Amino acid sequence: MKNIKKKFGSVTALRGVDLEVGENEIVGLLGDNGAGKSTLIKILSGVMPPTEGEIYIRGEKINPREYSVNQARELGIETVYQEKALGEKQPIWRNIFIGRHITNRFGFIDVDRVKQESQKIMREIMGLTGEGASPESRVSTLSGGERQGIAIGRAMYFDADLVILDEPTMALSLKEVDKVLKFIQKIKDNGKSCVYISHNITNVYPVSDRFVALDRGEKVGEYFKEECSLEELNEALIMATERKTG
Ligand SMILES: Nc1ncnc2c1ncn2[C@@H]1O[C@H](COP(=O)(O)OP(=O)(O)OP(=O)(O)O)[C@@H](O)[C@H]1O
Ligand SMILES: [Mg+2]
Repeated sequence: MKNIKKKFGSVTALRGVDLEVGENEIVGLLGDNGAGKSTLIKILSGVMPPTEGEIYIRGEKINPREYSVNQARELGIETVYQEKALGEKQPIWRNIFIGRHITNRFGFIDVDRVKQESQKIMREIMGLTGEGASPESRVSTLSGGERQGIAIGRAMYFDADLVILDEPTMALSLKEVDKVLKFIQKIKDNGKSCVYISHNITNVYPVSDRFVALDRGEKVGEYFKEECSLEELNEALIMATERKTG
């Protein structure tokens, strides 16, 4: 992403941000509330166009007029959103296979197979065992961690090249956080890439290769894990934000 700017009316959410994600690289995207993290990744995943700036995927320039969530998925980018990751009122199986239905020989959606595959994703990939975690359940009945789990399971099932995780605002339990971290490690081991947004740098640190810090719509820092300890990263982030304020 090159020189990305985004305005919402009079609010400027992004003021010319560059973000690069390499092959088999895990990037931790950091910054305070309102820094522009979700806006940046929504632009990357085709939810909204930038006001200005360019996006390249595997070196190919994207046409913002044609770019969409579906096109991003076709290009191997799967995103787990912070809010409203899934259609609230729909059953889980519809959410998992949205835009990617398995069809039978008549070209209709093969509902039975889609449900079976959904069950597999939920039980085998994500290990969801809760009472409500059946493909028939409505998304609105799931816990925060279960929702995150389903969105992640979907990304794994479709074998995305780049998985973007925007940590939910609601707190995840320790067990759920652990699952997310294990999943990111799996992305790394499988040779894929990830952008992981989190407020908790203690969580992001061990699984990331590089960190990008945003502050009020600008990139204020970029750090490689091999160059800094967790404490040094923490210090650097505080200094980067203070320098801008001061
Ligand atoms: N759809 C929108 N309309 C108007 N303003 C918006 C919209 N989306 C985001 N903003 C504004 O843009 C700025 C950046 O928001 P964004 O959601 O990207 O922050 P964030 O870094 O993800 O924050 P958090 O850590 O709280 O999730 C904020 O000031 C926010 O109010
Ligand atoms: Mg956000």
